[in-house]
Amino acid sequence: MFVQQPIAILDSGVGGLTVAKEVMRQLPREKILYFGDTARTPYGPRSSEEIIHFTREIVDYLIQFNPKMIVIACNTATAAGLEDIRSRVAIPVVGVIKPGARAAIGLTVTGCVGVIGTEGTIKSGAYEQALRELSPNVEVISEACPRFVPLVEKGNFRSIETYETVRSSIGHLRGFQMDTLILGCTHYPFLAETISEVMGQRVTLISSADETAREIRDILYKNGKLSREGALPVHQFFCSGDPRMFKKITQQWLGKQIELTPVVWQVPNIV
Ligand code: DGL
Repeated sequence: MFVQQPIAILDSGVGGLTVAKEVMRQLPREKILYFGDTARTPYGPRSSEEIIHFTREIVDYLIQFNPKMIVIACNTATAAGLEDIRSRVAIPVVGVIKPGARAAIGLTVTGCVGVIGTEGTIKSGAYEQALRELSPNVEVISEACPRFVPLVEKGNFRSIETYETVRSSIGHLRGFQMDTLILGCTHYPFLAETISEVMGQRVTLISSADETAREIRDILYKNGKLSREGALPVHQFFCSGDPRMFKKITQQWLGKQIELTPVVWQVPNIV
């Protein structure tokens, strides 16, 4: 019997759904396994060692389903552990930082690009490096926004609290010449309307989702692994924490019912 190999997508929580949704849109025949590590979110304030350890655990779990590719749909885990995971598995591993940087360089006219992300991502300097590799003279203004992910994980996308949090975290970025702002955390597209309200129409927001989905398609095509035919797939979702909020946000974001498997990690792994 023919069994379709899935694409495994992982994140610290619901953020990677912004990438998964775009993959579903661009590649509707691909089956997706999505893992949200909601028991241990946020990853942003954690050490690289800890994030690498968590990412390895999730990849080891997902590999039992024989995926054809792994997508680290988390900027923080991409910055800390992309190369580590690449060295451990025999299938392609895609991160979200280079695709986001490519999209921004393709769009900026002023040559001043903003990057917002978690503390881990901003501290790593991974976006600055990726942007400068593409365009050495680009001006990069970076800001860590540690209060955004907890809002998203609570499902608090639009409220006065959300507006005030976004305004006080990034309102000062309006003083720069930037015309392009990279949402350097996959959770942030959930707050895109509020971020746009605060930044004004002059600033285009970039999410790495589109460009990452294109990179996934290109790699699968090159490897002869693109699924083009057959029935529409049933995607599978896993989360390590409270399944209710995860399911609610996922269904709201994707606009459909999902099958969810809660995953219980051994106690020593839960920090
Ligand atoms: N969605 C994540 C990212 O892109 C991680 C956020 C977090 O857990 O702090 O960085």
